[in-house]
Amino acid sequence: MTAERTTRGSDGLRVWITGATGGIGSALAGHYASTGCRLVLSGRREDVLTARAGALRRTEVAVLPFDMSSGIEELRRNAAAALAFYDGLDLFIANAGLSQRARVTELDPSDLERLLRVNFTGHAILAQAIIPALRESAGSIAVLSSLAGISGAPLRSGYSAAKHALHGFFDTLAIEEPRIAVTTVIAGFVRTDIGLHAVAPGAGIHGRTDDIHATGSDPDRVARQIVRGVHRRRAVVYTGLGARGVFFRLLRRWARPLLRRILRKHG
Ligand SMILES: NC(=O)c1ccc[n+]([C@@H]2O[C@H](COP(=O)([O-])OP(=O)(O)OC[C@H]3O[C@@H](n4cnc5c(N)ncnc54)[C@H](OP(=O)(O)O)[C@@H]3O)[C@@H](O)[C@H]2O)c1
Repeated sequence: MTAERTTRGSDGLRVWITGATGGIGSALAGHYASTGCRLVLSGRREDVLTARAGALRRTEVAVLPFDMSSGIEELRRNAAAALAFYDGLDLFIANAGLSQRARVTELDPSDLERLLRVNFTGHAILAQAIIPALRESAGSIAVLSSLAGISGAPLRSGYSAAKHALHGFFDTLAIEEPRIAVTTVIAGFVRTDIGLHAVAPGAGIHGRTDDIHATGSDPDRVARQIVRGVHRRRAVVYTGLGARGVFFRLLRRWARPLLRRILRKHG
């Protein structure tokens, strides 16, 4: 497998997607399956993964359920299992994510730790374990970040910290590993269940979809843009921003104090 192979066509590529039980991850699985990639799908809910795999008939799909907040050895075992399905890997999509709707003062410390493990540490440990395989295939890593990964965001302190950490870790990996293409995806507002599972004050669960996500971008459209960016080995892909996200980006670049005031007032 050469670098040309990963940039020209995706037929037969070996793709591992975390967080494939729903939302953006499930949509990505659909797009990669439709171009004949061989998939490894991860998430915690095995029944949902199995159902998704069953629906993707045109390709080989392996299911690898595990919890991203597991310990180091468990994560390494799962990375080894992912590599074993197709004897290597061409693309790793670090997509699993857990959001937050709690102020800094309300966030349970155990939830802060979980946010960091699910969104950041878990993916960093998996990436360490698969680097040799990706080096060999001149493969790629795509990392799902957010506007909260480039700025603070109200009620999302731990989530934002974890997404910022992804940038530092995977940017460094890209510098150290020139054979591996790293694409950081900065997604805006996408219509998924991310709010349902978000952690809430006092170790609670948010349990609902906020308007900003209910009216967000279609996950299939977002997945298509991610696939295109990864295919072209882009360093950064912005997607699902909408007018609000574009405004956010502009203010972040040119008027940070104003952005902070707006976020304080409107969230
Ligand atoms: N939706 C947005 O507006 C938006 C914006 C910016 C960035 N993003 C990012 O996009 C990615 C996908 O999010 P989404 O919107 O598609 O959300 P989603 O529908 O809630 O999907 C999240 C995925 O992560 C998995 N997951 C959650 N906790 C896990 C754990 N402890 N262990 C293993 N897997 C776990 C879930 O699977 P199980 O429940 O089966 O474990 C699910 O497949 C995330 O990284 C998110 O931060 C989303």
